[in-house]
Amino acid sequence: MENYHRGLGFRYLLDTKYHRDKPVKDDLGFLPPPPAEKSYFNAPRFPLPEPKLDLGHNLWECLRKRRSIRKYSNQPITVTDLSNLVWATQGVTEKIGRHLLRTAPSAGALYPFETYLYINNVEGLEKGFYHLHVASFSLEQLKTGEFSRELTAAALGQTMVGRAAVVFLWSAVPLRCMAKYRNRGIRYIFLDLGHVCQNLQLAATAMGMGSCPIGAFFDDELNNLLELDGVDETIVYMNPVGKL
Ligand SMILES: Cc1cc2nc3c(=O)[nH]c(=O)nc-3n(C[C@H](O)[C@H](O)[C@H](O)COP(=O)(O)O)c2cc1C
Repeated sequence: MENYHRGLGFRYLLDTKYHRDKPVKDDLGFLPPPPAEKSYFNAPRFPLPEPKLDLGHNLWECLRKRRSIRKYSNQPITVTDLSNLVWATQGVTEKIGRHLLRTAPSAGALYPFETYLYINNVEGLEKGFYHLHVASFSLEQLKTGEFSRELTAAALGQTMVGRAAVVFLWSAVPLRCMAKYRNRGIRYIFLDLGHVCQNLQLAATAMGMGSCPIGAFFDDELNNLLELDGVDETIVYMNPVGKL
């Protein structure tokens, strides 16, 4: 074994492999599964309008055109534009039993993440942080105000974050997935969010908007802005979107 294989990253990858002839290492004990979805019961709630799904672009064209774009104009987007973007990431497309199946796949239909939005330039919505309540396709308003500077600083100074009309921020809720898949569940959170983010990029492309996945940020600065504990729930991915 090379020395670097003993490092944290490799150890995780190797120790969470499934083998036919030996059990997976498990050091977890009982894990209480958290609720399937978070809800801020006392927050003001804004139902999103029906998404407008008859835009001209076809899938193949969007796949060909998709690019990570880091410069946006300062034109606002409409709430219907926002609804389309949100629906592309987590729109419920079928209900089976207690599962709300969505536009993006998720291991075991557990959806071990939450979606937050920083609304910066959306017509008719106050600036600030919101949480997506998937079951009701509505936004829960968490705090109002201008946070572009703090968000940009948290994202290692990447200015696209402050210029976007909306910034999607995704947290991981590890126990939702680990209660079933144990340590291997951590892999699935990142796989799941990759699908979600790709849907967002394709939707942005279809709507003539730019977007860019972001994995580089000071995690706990974002967690603090959203009042997350950074352990049982921690931001792992973000994506600003704006008009070109
Ligand atoms: C997981 C992930 C993290 C990324 N993080 C950043 C980032 O922090 N900053 C940035 O400018 N681009 C980021 N990107 C965008 C990549 O740089 C971009 O996808 C890559 O250069 C390929 O270009 P394309 O997406 O236009 O095809 C990230 C992409 C992914 C998938």
